[in-house]
Amino acid sequence: MFEPDVLRQEAALIACRRRLHERPELSFHEFETTEYLESALREMGVDELSRPCKTGLIATIRGKKPGKPAALGVRADIDALPIQEDNDLPYRSKNPGVMHACGHDAHAAIALTLARLLCARRSEFCGTVRLLFQHAEELPPGGAIEMVRAGAAEGLDAVLGIHLSTTFPSGHFGVRAGALTANTDRFDITVLGKGGHCALPETCIDPVVTGAQIILALQTLVSRKMAAVDPAVVSICQANAGNAYNIIPNTMTLTGTTRCLGPQARAFLHAEMERIVRGITQAAGAGYEFSWQDGYPSVMNDEGLTKLAEQLIEARFGAERVLHISPLMPGEDYPYFLEDGKRPGFFVELGTRNAACGSDQPHHNPHFKIDEDCLKYGVQFLLDMALRLLDGTRDAL
Ligand code: NI
Repeated sequence: MFEPDVLRQEAALIACRRRLHERPELSFHEFETTEYLESALREMGVDELSRPCKTGLIATIRGKKPGKPAALGVRADIDALPIQEDNDLPYRSKNPGVMHACGHDAHAAIALTLARLLCARRSEFCGTVRLLFQHAEELPPGGAIEMVRAGAAEGLDAVLGIHLSTTFPSGHFGVRAGALTANTDRFDITVLGKGGHCALPETCIDPVVTGAQIILALQTLVSRKMAAVDPAVVSICQANAGNAYNIIPNTMTLTGTTRCLGPQARAFLHAEMERIVRGITQAAGAGYEFSWQDGYPSVMNDEGLTKLAEQLIEARFGAERVLHISPLMPGEDYPYFLEDGKRPGFFVELGTRNAACGSDQPHHNPHFKIDEDCLKYGVQFLLDMALRLLDGTRDAL
């Protein structure tokens, strides 16, 4: 079970999480949060502190154990959401219209507590741990890419990440090798027709009829072009054309999102979608514009790190604490720290569901709550991973 060291930190861990919960800040505006974390990290004596972006920060702790050194990153996001909290808690949000409704307050508190433990246990690891307190996960293009461009991942051999989840029972770990979360991409299609009099369609190229064909044809991408075991979603969420009942418009725009797992599925959907749009507009004698914006990429968990995580969780808490989970369709910007497979990573879902304390509501909901009992599991797990990966016996992990 838990190390006494970890249990001794529990009260401070919960206090820290409540302090962050009370003062949530929106993406790219986490100024007070960054200040708070920075002063706590300075006080505990980390080796290096830096702020590569306006908000968010990096803390480095160097181990003193002899051996082969490696560098491990641990990422924790710190931003909140534009939601009015509707929980009756003594530490509920004091910032109107802003709420930690996804548990990022917990992620930051877990990473901060991990830092404190690592500072006290430098003799037990060889190399460095870089704690990446990342801003703006909730607002694409997100803070991760900004930190990476500023060099935050340089020299790291692997990066770990953690996210609380009210889907899984408290204190259990949702684990999956390979794709864990979805690519969250956006597409914009414009059908370029020829407008005119509604009574004389033969003199026009009607973009609405062509757009309707595209809408239906795109449904076949998932149902007919992808394997049934390959999860994907294509949703057209906006369709706009025309401004009068008796005028055939010039153009129609279709905007939507695709969700799928891994880089191959993403490339496939992108190419096939454009092929369908090209073919249908060509058949209609219309033109088209097509744009695709990559959103957050899939979290791709490394096999070896996943296996190690399972072993450590089993050894520490018992095999029943490991849940082998299916992929999750929401997105997450943590994978930018892995730079397209340049380094391996492992991202874990830490369960916090417990109906008895109300932590069974969905994320991004005004009634979202966590079970604070799960926090120490997160700390112990990350500590176990860090000490094992930096035990000084491996070549670059
Ligand atoms: Ni989140």
